[in-house]
Amino acid sequence: MNASMVGKVALVTGAGSGIGRAAARLFAQHGAAVAVADIDAAGGQATAEQITHDGGTSVFIRADVAHADDVQAMIAQVVAQFGRLDYAHNNAGIEGRVAPLLECDEAQWDRIIAVNLKGVWLCLQHELRQMLAQGGGAIVNTASVAGLVGTAGMAAYAASKHGVVGLTKTAAIEYARAGIRVNAVCPGFIHTPMVERYTANDAQANARLARAHAIRRLGTPEEVAEAVVWLCSDAAAFVTGHALAVDGGLVAM
Ligand SMILES: NC(=O)c1ccc[n+]([C@@H]2O[C@H](COP(=O)([O-])OP(=O)(O)OC[C@H]3O[C@@H](n4cnc5c(N)ncnc54)[C@H](O)[C@@H]3O)[C@@H](O)[C@H]2O)c1
Repeated sequence: MNASMVGKVALVTGAGSGIGRAAARLFAQHGAAVAVADIDAAGGQATAEQITHDGGTSVFIRADVAHADDVQAMIAQVVAQFGRLDYAHNNAGIEGRVAPLLECDEAQWDRIIAVNLKGVWLCLQHELRQMLAQGGGAIVNTASVAGLVGTAGMAAYAASKHGVVGLTKTAAIEYARAGIRVNAVCPGFIHTPMVERYTANDAQANARLARAHAIRRLGTPEEVAEAVVWLCSDAAAFVTGHALAVDGGLVAM
């Protein structure tokens, strides 16, 4: 174990599955106490139990990041339980139904923007307040390659993720002098339940997705988690306002 985060406290939203679960487990492996937040209690509890089973410290907090009251209560619970907040990974997100822009109805647009974009903004507000009071911290938002390039069939999702990149850069320049770094990761297609829904687990669809990456395979949640934890660590002390593609060369092609 690399114990560089002993005594630190991390919060990961959407940590009941996929990328968030991998990030929560990696923060714990580095010694941080981890608050696992998710709208899905079963998934979130399971992640928290995996961490404690592996010898780490964790608590599950049920929260819908699209709701201001939930986000406020989530941060209050982290601080009540662990006394501080050093690292936040704003990762909760939904993909919605894949369909052309003309077939995206208003309810779907509103929910995707509420979770993926407003959710990150709400989390940033409460996390930044806590980090300002403490004198520093590091935040990583999960955007996507759909935050860097257009993505057919996912207009609302791509709009939300481009928004996350804009929020990340703006928060970074506003709070850099307060000792708070804010970055984003932009994953390519990562083998998680989200992608399994996207391809309906179809072998040909998976092969097509793999070919979209220069590396010719999907990424793993653990590979994204490594980037998240590095961006939060002191090794990345001079990195802020960056949107890091973790995408096997997808946007380079
Ligand atoms: N898997 C990919 O290929 C990929 C690529 C780029 C970006 N991303 C992004 O990575 C993040 C994680 O995705 P994943 O692939 O691990 O998906 P996932 O569906 O496996 O996990 C997402 C988690 O977020 C939770 N969640 C959903 N809405 C929530 C809400 N309102 N409040 C709190 N929690 C909520 C879900 O319950 C789930 O546990 C998302 O933001 C997604 O957009 C994923």
